[in-house]
Amino acid sequence: MKILMVCLGNICRSPLAHGILKQKAADKQLNWVVESAGTGDWHIGEAPDRRAIAIAKKYGVDISGQRARHFKPQFFSEYDLIFVMDRQNYADVCAQVIDKEDLHKVKLFLGDDVVPDPYFDDNLFDPVFQMIDQRCAEVIAKGGNPIV
Ligand code: 4NP
Repeated sequence: MKILMVCLGNICRSPLAHGILKQKAADKQLNWVVESAGTGDWHIGEAPDRRAIAIAKKYGVDISGQRARHFKPQFFSEYDLIFVMDRQNYADVCAQVIDKEDLHKVKLFLGDDVVPDPYFDDNLFDPVFQMIDQRCAEVIAKGGNPIV
C-alpha cells in the first residue's frame, strides 16, 4: 500500500499526516509506504513548519527529517491512495489527473470534513494534530480502506 498525504504547502498538515500514519503503520508492522506533497511550490525542499515539528515532537512523532515536495501528475500512478486535507486540495489534485480512472484514489482525509489550515493560527496546531492522529488510527484499523 502506497499512500500520499497532500495539503497546500506540505509544511503543516500533510507532514503531520505523513509522519503519524507512517509511525502507526510501522508500529503495526504494516508494509506501507507513506509520503506527502503540496499543491503549492513555495516550500519545496524545506523542513516542516517549526510549529508542526514541535506539536509532533510533543506527542512522540519526529517529522523533522521530512522535506517538502510539489505534487506531480505522475503521483497518480505511483500511489494507491491520495488523501487530501481540504476541498481546495481536492480540486487542485483532481485537476492534474492524467488517467481519469485514477480519480477514485483521491479522498478527503477526514471523509466529509476538512483539516483546517493552521498556517496563520498557532492555536490550531494542537487540534489539527489530534484530528489527524485520530483519523490515522481509523485508517490503520480499516486496513487503509478510506471509507469508514
Ligand atoms: P499546509 O499549510 O498546507 O498545511 O502546509 C500552509 C503552509 C504554507 C502556506 C499555506 C498553507 N503558504 O501560504 O505558504
